[in-house]
Amino acid sequence: MPDLTAAARRQKVHRTPIWLMRQAGRYLPEYRELRAHHDFLTMARTPELAAQVTVQPLRRFDLDGAIVFADILLPLDPMGLGLSFEAGEGPHIAKAVETPQDLARLREVDVASDLGFVAEAVRIVKSQLPPEVPVIGFAGAPFTLASYAVEGGPSRDYRRLKRFMWHHPQAFADLLGRLASLTIEYLTLQVAAGAGMVQLFDSWVGALSERDYRRLVLPHTKRILAAVKDLGVPSIHFAPLASAYLATLKEAGGDVIALDWRPDIGEVRRALGPGVAVQGNLDPLLLREGPVREIEAAALEIVGRGGVFPGHIFNLGHGIDKDTPLEHVAALIEAVHRAPSPGGIARL
Ligand code: CP3
Repeated sequence: MPDLTAAARRQKVHRTPIWLMRQAGRYLPEYRELRAHHDFLTMARTPELAAQVTVQPLRRFDLDGAIVFADILLPLDPMGLGLSFEAGEGPHIAKAVETPQDLARLREVDVASDLGFVAEAVRIVKSQLPPEVPVIGFAGAPFTLASYAVEGGPSRDYRRLKRFMWHHPQAFADLLGRLASLTIEYLTLQVAAGAGMVQLFDSWVGALSERDYRRLVLPHTKRILAAVKDLGVPSIHFAPLASAYLATLKEAGGDVIALDWRPDIGEVRRALGPGVAVQGNLDPLLLREGPVREIEAAALEIVGRGGVFPGHIFNLGHGIDKDTPLEHVAALIEAVHRAPSPGGIARL
């Protein structure tokens, strides 16, 4: 079994596996070169281009997994919400959901035809990589997708979404339920195409109180992660800033909980116990800024503290910054692979 999936299942590994969120992206000169000729959505929707970008970081670095090049927001477009990316401004949703009545105009997505290009990219990548490097499929979680659907783009405080949630709890539940059903079908499609594990990105859910998270979001996330379990591949649940309520996140049922860079990974593992794997948790800004000896020292400590039980996947606490020097990435991967881990690793 590849080290990445073994770690997700809390089994023994040869060395601590590492991959980086946003590893296929703008910090790579070869990505920027290709991107100069195609816009982002065209790249994501053209399987040959998406596959090429997915393997770019693997050609350079000894990474343990390949996350398919796509975006969590892609499913919103066939729902009829109108997705575009404006240079320098991030995503834009043209037909945002403003009232409960707006839900009636959302289209039923047919994942195989509307999002089949992602499955095709997974198939191409899988055929190009050795079996010890799994393809990581992914999707956005309902709350984070709803944040774009309702806010129309990025938001500082999610005020519109929270207002919608508190004033129209039934419509909010309908919206999250629809997004959860779509996400299950979308992840099923990616696994059928060859994804060996999946990550669910709930990037902005940490804006919620524990009470609202538990009542209004957790049931939907639980349903998705249970469906992924039935597919037979491990799941990673990423909900940065929600580490204030990690024990509640654990109830969602993912095999791996992904941490941002704030909590101490050793304390988190002791609090959660040996029954769940953990991913993380280097500060992406440290990887960008360096110096290399500080990156290496932090990596060594994270591997040591994260490895108190089997089941640690090394990653950053959030996506890699576009201005990260390539030498820093290379040094990090080498440091993680070399680092001794106390309980988790048996050098097989
Ligand atoms: O390498 C990988 O991790 C795989 C591909 C991937 C992308 N986006 C490509 C991308 C993944 C896993 C994502 C997830 C994603 N997308 C999230 C969740 C992760 C997180 O950061 O919490 C979110 C919130 C989005 C939405 C999104 N897509 C935003 C906010 C932006 C703009 C960011 C910016 O800095 O401009 C994107 C665009 C995007 N998605 C890019 C890439 C490589 C940049 C596109 C470009 O080349 O201009």
